[in-house]
Amino acid sequence: MDARAHMTRIVHRSIAHSYPVAVRGEGIHIWDAAGKAYIDASGGAAVSCLGHGHPDVLKAMHAQLDKLAYAHTSFFTTEVAEALGEDLVAHAPSGISHVYFVSGGSEAIEAALKMARQYFVEIGEPERRHFIARQQSYHGNTLGALAVGGNAWRRKQFAPLLIETHHVSPCFEYRGRQPDETPRQYGERLARELQQKIEELGPKTVIAFIAETVGGATSGAIPAVEGYFKRIREICDRHGILLILDEVMCGMGRTGTLHACEQEGIAPDLMAIAKGLGGGFAPIGALLVGKKIFEAFEKGSGFFQHGHTYLGHPLACAGALAVQQVIRRDDLLANVRRQGEHLARRLGERFGNHHHVGDLRGRGLFQAVELVEDRGSKAPFDPRHKLHARIKQEAMARGLMVYPMGGTVDGQRGDHVLLAPPFIADSQAIDTIVERLGEAIDASIASLPGAGKKSR
Ligand SMILES: Cc1ncc(COP(=O)(O)O)c(C=O)c1O
Repeated sequence: MDARAHMTRIVHRSIAHSYPVAVRGEGIHIWDAAGKAYIDASGGAAVSCLGHGHPDVLKAMHAQLDKLAYAHTSFFTTEVAEALGEDLVAHAPSGISHVYFVSGGSEAIEAALKMARQYFVEIGEPERRHFIARQQSYHGNTLGALAVGGNAWRRKQFAPLLIETHHVSPCFEYRGRQPDETPRQYGERLARELQQKIEELGPKTVIAFIAETVGGATSGAIPAVEGYFKRIREICDRHGILLILDEVMCGMGRTGTLHACEQEGIAPDLMAIAKGLGGGFAPIGALLVGKKIFEAFEKGSGFFQHGHTYLGHPLACAGALAVQQVIRRDDLLANVRRQGEHLARRLGERFGNHHHVGDLRGRGLFQAVELVEDRGSKAPFDPRHKLHARIKQEAMARGLMVYPMGGTVDGQRGDHVLLAPPFIADSQAIDTIVERLGEAIDASIASLPGAGKKSR
């Protein structure tokens, strides 16, 4: 049975595509209605950090459901939301004192943008109105999040609806660092670019700089070069500009530390988290809020002018709290680091000399393979071939879920495959993932028009 065979009424992501029907999940696997098993090597889109059907999470959610499924936040708070708030602040980057709960990543970004703007109204700097973000970034699909996002293809047809935003270069070493630059010099150059953009707009008109700590969906696990974020933090501080980090995808343990920014030695003023927060057991996201921002609201209007119906949903909070407790109890971040190293090693062995793999990158269990037509020139494949879509199909045929995407270079050209296996994966699972991915990539390249000689 597939979606088309039973005349779907759903507007699926791709209308013409037949999706298998997922019926069951356990551990690192999802099964479809035909009984076929898929290893979830991407956690969907870096969501399912504990895999599927984790018994402790289900137990906590069942218990909450039996007590109370929903209470609107304009009437009540709940024990479970308060407990999750305490838990998140206790393990947050320094300076974070409060949490604003939402239902996903885009909502967390919308809340960040509005909170950042209202903060400056609260402190008497209403002339601040600009957001600076990075090209090739992804911050979500709602209009505000899309406006700060820097992916050309995603923005294009909606451009007339988007608020004005400004973009600087991403920190994308493979594509951006010049051959005569050290990583540090490259980071310095990017920091100068931000500084120039701020001067051009007028430092007193800028609200915030927003960036994914490790780039994800649109670029494929790109960590910053050493020192980059320290310089960014300094520049923001110098001008009283807020630093908003988007750790919706790379956060909550995915890179081997609870927050990706820990590895950069900096803390943000506001930080969006989602995906791994609830591990897919229920839709949840959160905005982590710095003390100085909270206090400005507390001393000012006492009211953040925002809100949604499902803020702090008790069932979602119960799921997220259980996910975070299991990660700590089972010391799963150590496994993320250990299996992350194993994954990097295996990818290196399989693809290090592959004619069509230009770059392997990432941190922890957040890694990517970038495909190129020519390794020497880094020229991508013709985007009309949609290599990324072929890889997804070939991987699914082999019982493997990975997260390939096109437009890696500039929103149009380039292909990469993102891997984000569950934190519970063992080295045997990692070996199987790399083996199936290798087969899927080779089969996809072999299927390209005019393919042949060079594929391995
Ligand atoms: C970095 C980042 N920010 C925001 C989002 C949007 O999150 P959601 O799809 O939950 O709205 C995503 C989703 O992929 C993301 O990767």
